[in-house]
Amino acid sequence: MKLVSDLDVKGKKVLVRVDFNVPLKDGVIRDDNRMVQALPTIKELLDKGAAVILMSHLGKISYKKTPEEIEEAKKKNNMVFLVNHLQELLPKNDVSFCPDTRGEKLAYFVDMLKPGEVLLVQNTRYEKGEEKNDSVLSQEWASIADAFVMDAFGSAHRAHASTYGVPEAMKAEGKPVAVGFLVEKEVENLTRCVEVKPEDRPYVAILGGFKVSDKIKVIDSLLKKCDKILIGGAMAYTFKKALGYTVGTSPVESDQLDYAKKCFEEAKGRILLPVDSVVTNGFEGWTEKKVVGQDIPEGYEGMDIGPETAKIYASEIAKSKMVFWNGPMGVFEQSDFAVGTIEICKAIAELKGAFTVIGGGDSAAAVAQFGYKDEFSHVSTGGGASLEMIENDGHLPGIDIIRG
Ligand code: 3PG
Repeated sequence: MKLVSDLDVKGKKVLVRVDFNVPLKDGVIRDDNRMVQALPTIKELLDKGAAVILMSHLGKISYKKTPEEIEEAKKKNNMVFLVNHLQELLPKNDVSFCPDTRGEKLAYFVDMLKPGEVLLVQNTRYEKGEEKNDSVLSQEWASIADAFVMDAFGSAHRAHASTYGVPEAMKAEGKPVAVGFLVEKEVENLTRCVEVKPEDRPYVAILGGFKVSDKIKVIDSLLKKCDKILIGGAMAYTFKKALGYTVGTSPVESDQLDYAKKCFEEAKGRILLPVDSVVTNGFEGWTEKKVVGQDIPEGYEGMDIGPETAKIYASEIAKSKMVFWNGPMGVFEQSDFAVGTIEICKAIAELKGAFTVIGGGDSAAAVAQFGYKDEFSHVSTGGGASLEMIENDGHLPGIDIIRG
């Protein structure tokens, strides 16, 4: 697989697919990690005398909605506000913004772009054909540059026009395609969690988050690779209910009960579930909080793993040589229910000489919020992408197309 540093780009226009789908709060960037992580690739190209065209998506735009709703979604996900921040991150280079995603205006902006300059193009999802991997759109985007670099690890599980169709079209035209440094780093680290070496055992996976249905494939895959899977977050209650415990008003996916039971039984003790929980009388506006054992009483909802569970999980982590973590243990956004997630962070921080990876927007945000980000060997910029990489034995369409 070619790397950005292998390309001869002096005087060339290079299209770089980045993932600037940054978390926002009230229109303000909450965490610019994805932008910062893309800088080494962008700087490499600029330093070598290339003109850099950046493309990314931001948020979701559903074309199944009414024209008014589509316009509203476009307005909400307009990427123009990212330009100032990008300019701050690249003080030595001119950064401009093209408000159009195709056509004459895009061609004009690209034409005007000089070596050492950066052009950020409007949200790729302004185009209906983006998520459909439309071939005409892909060919138009492929035609504006001399080379393509894939550095959007967070979007590499999407076979969209900008992540798949464009490199495919460029390859067909004989133009060079490569991955960037961010993708290289992610692949290197996550491959270690996929192709497990004997010295990385015991290998423990920690899975949290809301839905079992989102994690079925990854659980199945991890069961083949890991020694233990520790389950927390709301998805634990579907497992608990499937095993016959009462879960009060905790969220349960009724259509996943059979799967959860079968999966737990087949794991033969390798899946660990909470033995106690922090519960409240209702999700919002609760007035009572307490710790309960295996069963959650009627009228109470699980909000976090309990202290005994945290202790058991910490002791499993302490014995491990490799940890892959996706999904918080509780409603960590509220400090009352962040303890379980923090205890897991602490156990990982105390684990010396082990290889530890965390993936997923929420989990990465949690460890950053609690100050444990530097304690991990690798914090992935991809949530869905890191999970799919584990599920598909190291394969992601946006990377395979560069490789193949
Ligand atoms: C992400 O945030 O996981 C990536 O940017 C992909 O976004 P998507 O789930 O909207 O495709």
